[in-house]
Amino acid sequence: MKITFCCSDTKAGPWLTGLRAALPGAQVEVWQAGAAPAEHAVVWAPPQQFFDEQPQLKGIFNIGAGVDALLKLRLPPQATVVRLDDAGMSVQMAEYVCHAVIRHFREFDAYEADARAGLWSFRKPRVRADFSVGVMGLGVLGQRVARALRQFEFPVLGWSRSSKDIEGVRSFAGAAQFHDFLAVSKVLVNLLPLTPDTRDILRFDTLSKLPPGAYVINVARGAHLVEQDLIALIASGHLAGATLDVFRSEPLPLEHPFWQHPKITITPHTSARTLRDESIAQIAGKMMALERGEPVAGVVDRGRGY
Ligand code: NAP
Ligand code: GLV
Repeated sequence: MKITFCCSDTKAGPWLTGLRAALPGAQVEVWQAGAAPAEHAVVWAPPQQFFDEQPQLKGIFNIGAGVDALLKLRLPPQATVVRLDDAGMSVQMAEYVCHAVIRHFREFDAYEADARAGLWSFRKPRVRADFSVGVMGLGVLGQRVARALRQFEFPVLGWSRSSKDIEGVRSFAGAAQFHDFLAVSKVLVNLLPLTPDTRDILRFDTLSKLPPGAYVINVARGAHLVEQDLIALIASGHLAGATLDVFRSEPLPLEHPFWQHPKITITPHTSARTLRDESIAQIAGKMMALERGEPVAGVVDRGRGY
């Protein structure tokens, strides 16, 4: 079996070593223009030329959960596109989101500022029951995040395309229930895939439906959020602030107002990183299953876009 590796911004050596160890007998090489045809590809942000030269591929394995960039390319129509399905990302995402929610809820920024100013001052505890956390997207990552938030006894709501039955999580589904979901989300966490239906979904009119003083956490994709609308709603006082891990342009340009905004916390697209060993084990297992004609988890539905 031939496997071709074409991942930009990724050090190939350790991936090749890991894939060769996990798939003894397979020939695993870094793709170069003009390379021989392979059965399977392991990719991250490959150029269009890669697929134009490898039209026979059976499996395309994306080394990330989101496939928005991949689906912009012309892919071989017969190839099964497989994304990472957790592979150590959901626990990272749960840590990140719980940290951001708790930091906001417990006003740790204000306590840190007080401590730096030599102030020993208490704030009135906020009422947990007033802090409903709404999670947009209840897939692999969203469900793990929702469950983790329940451990801290926040009221948790979730919004997805299809209705879900998750203990302790109030489910809202589809466009018809979106505004009802927003109206009760004091903290909004975005974990949707980026698709034509979800691009710009966090914009002035939708964010305005959140309760006054709401807080936004975007850990999915930058193009979900209309950035100037967020800034305007924080300036008007309707939103309390935001924690953002993803941006319309990455790296975030140095002149971007988010860098210095006192009510916006940013991180460099790091909330849930691809973990090499876990990913290699998952990809190798799925490649073997595909070869045997068995079903695998995480197959992308190109029509839905995720
Ligand atoms: P997933 O398992 O495919 O889950 C997607 C969820 O979104 C599903 O619950 C789906 O509903 C829901 N959804 C999709 N389109 C919708 C729509 N139009 N309206 C309402 N709900 C919709 O994806 P995942 O593995 O949890 O990952 C989610 C996203 O996180 C990825 O696509 C990626 O962009 C992002 N991500 C970011 C990082 C980072 O470091 N910042 C890391 C990993 C992933 P159904 O359940 O009804 O289908
Ligand atoms: C990272 O953003 C991913 O989609 O895995």
